[in-house]
Formats: sequence, C-alpha cells, structure tokens
Amino acid sequence: MTAVRHFLDAIKFEHTVFALPFAYVSMVLAADAVGSAITTVEGLTGEGELSDVQRAFIDQGAVQCGFCIPGMIVALTDLLDRSPAASELEMREAISGNLCRCTGYGRIFAAFRQVQQERADARA
Ligand code: FES
Repeated sequence: MTAVRHFLDAIKFEHTVFALPFAYVSMVLAADAVGSAITTVEGLTGEGELSDVQRAFIDQGAVQCGFCIPGMIVALTDLLDRSPAASELEMREAISGNLCRCTGYGRIFAAFRQVQQERADARA
C-alpha cells in the first residue's frame, strides 16, 4: 500500500484524486504516468456541472451501478475530442479497457452517438 501511495503521490494530478480503487480504472500504469497531467471524470467540468457526455449517459439510461462509468466517460470524451467522427469500431476500441457488467453496452453506445450528433449539429 505504501508503494502504491508513493506512486500516486509522485504523479501530478490536475484535478481531484479519486479514492484508491478508482485509480485502477485507467488502463495506464501509474508508473507510466509520472510527470503527466491526469484528468479524471471529476475534472471534465466545473463543480456541479455535467459534460455533454455525462448528460448523454443520463439521457440514454446508460448508468446502472456506476462502477464503470467514470472510465467510460473519460475514454469517450477523449475519443470525441480527438476524433469527432469516430467510427463505431473506434468507439468500441476506446472503451475496451472498461468492462461493464450491467448495461450490455447498448445504452453506452447510444450515449456516444447522441453526443456525436449533438456536436455535429453544433458545428453545422
Ligand atoms: S454500470 Fe455497472 S458495471 Fe457498468
């Protein structure tokens, strides 16, 4: 535990640090993130606000127990920011490190498509 704490202390977190179990949601080893800025789901928006991806998850009923949701939202936000017209395959690859045992993924995919469409409409 002390070694893990030391690793986490060595990483400069850009936003609030999650409780230790959530640090493992990421697919990046903590040791590989030393010196990197890290954005958690809490850092996507201001306090008390929801991002468009978070709102879409609620709209589509994509949140059940919530265990996988922070990782899903961070991964999909990153993909949508980097590749607004990402394909379904790219979406599936982006979340491949996050296992959801509740939703069956259909509603998560619907949330992704909702944000993709909303952002495309906003650009038009
Ligand atoms: S909502 Fe429960 S694991 Fe995804």
